[in-house]
Amino acid sequence: MRTQVAIIGAGPSGLLLGALLSKAGIDNVIVEQRSADYVLGRIRAGVLEQVAVDLLDEVGIGARMHAEGLPHDGFDLCFDDRRHRIDLHGLTGKRVMVYGQTEVTRDLMDARRASGRPTVYEAADVGVHGFEGKAPGVRYVKDGARHEIQCDFIAGCDGFHGVCRASVPQDKLALHEKVYPFGWLGLLADVPPVSHELIYVNHPRGFALCSQRSRTRSRYYVQCALDDQVEHWSDDAFWAELKRRLPADTAAQLTTGPSIEKSIAPLRSFVAEPMRFGRLFLAGDAAHIVPPTGAKGLNLAATDVGYLSQSLVDYYQGHEQGIATYSERCLRRIWRAERFSWWMTSLMHRFPDNGSFDHKMQSAELDYLVNSPAAMTALAENYVGLPL
Ligand code: FAD
Ligand code: PHB
Repeated sequence: MRTQVAIIGAGPSGLLLGALLSKAGIDNVIVEQRSADYVLGRIRAGVLEQVAVDLLDEVGIGARMHAEGLPHDGFDLCFDDRRHRIDLHGLTGKRVMVYGQTEVTRDLMDARRASGRPTVYEAADVGVHGFEGKAPGVRYVKDGARHEIQCDFIAGCDGFHGVCRASVPQDKLALHEKVYPFGWLGLLADVPPVSHELIYVNHPRGFALCSQRSRTRSRYYVQCALDDQVEHWSDDAFWAELKRRLPADTAAQLTTGPSIEKSIAPLRSFVAEPMRFGRLFLAGDAAHIVPPTGAKGLNLAATDVGYLSQSLVDYYQGHEQGIATYSERCLRRIWRAERFSWWMTSLMHRFPDNGSFDHKMQSAELDYLVNSPAAMTALAENYVGLPL
């Protein structure tokens, strides 16, 4: 098989890149190691910045998001058992869209199927080669048969554990990493959200987050130990722990119910530099991870592929400047989102090694934050997304 761009991974970054390239008339094939159902079963992000919304509109799949997604003008920060509203729209003139990654992925998959562009699901032993020269290729095994795709470029949209970053000679990569000493236990349930906006909670027992997917579906998280296991958490235990971390009046309003999904995610900050090696580009979680506290991961993936598709369109029109500066342009935005996600994680969680001084510093910073319009604006402008 021959194509212009071979995309590895059918997560949000691979599917969105495929849609952007297809719209520009650039031929592409997506190769994914899992089944479509497996990809849709992973419950992850919930908050989209305006830039991500704009990109989904640009590829013509925004209709369901605008009909079913929930625009949010603010969220609550909660500490010392009190909730303080951060007025995102009042402070920045912008809002965010609450619309699940699962739904974004489903919309992109439906559009891809309708376009007739090829997607190979359940591809085994995926390998990439030749990207340091002029003739890159992708090999994989499907239903026991070996296949090869020849292409002009490879887009590594294959997430943190993918094959693309791992195929780059290690001496050509600079890796920057911070692993946090805790995880998030998440629960999804068909119950109405406790509040119409998100609540981020700093509590002596640990962080908690009240999020949502719709007016009838809630997503909640509690900070847990890194070595904790989801099997140790009954639904009842989860709800009891969440209630303990909420102010009494909020806990009293919480509707509980059976979980649809429960999982533990470790928290990590990670950046691999650069993001281009000859004819291989990395995008999304393949190149960087942020802890979910700032709700930035999916949004960064979307902006990476926005830059990448534009660079490739320019290339096919005879301008190589875009692909030459792809890495640098992405990384500037990525490092700012890394800083924000790290800061918000540090502010809102209990760290096992922290003592009373560190707790006092968190309290003082939260107190400053909710009483200073300047500090609140800095939080709000990062949360809604810095300009491109
Ligand atoms: P992925 O979604 O990881 O997709 C990569 C794809 O590549 C996968 O389908 C995988 O199966 C495939 N793949 C892997 N290896 C191979 C291979 N060898 N060959 C072929 N295919 C391969 N972000 C936000 O912006 N807002 C939020 O509110 C938010 N909340 C989050 C909450 C949680 C609990 C978690 C865990 C994450 C959250 N994120 C959030 C982050 C967001 O989910 C990720 O940043 C996003 O999924 C990245 O998309 P991606 O396409 O780059 O990678
Ligand atoms: C979610 O709804 O899954 C979600 C929302 C906001 C975050 C992280 C996750 O910061």
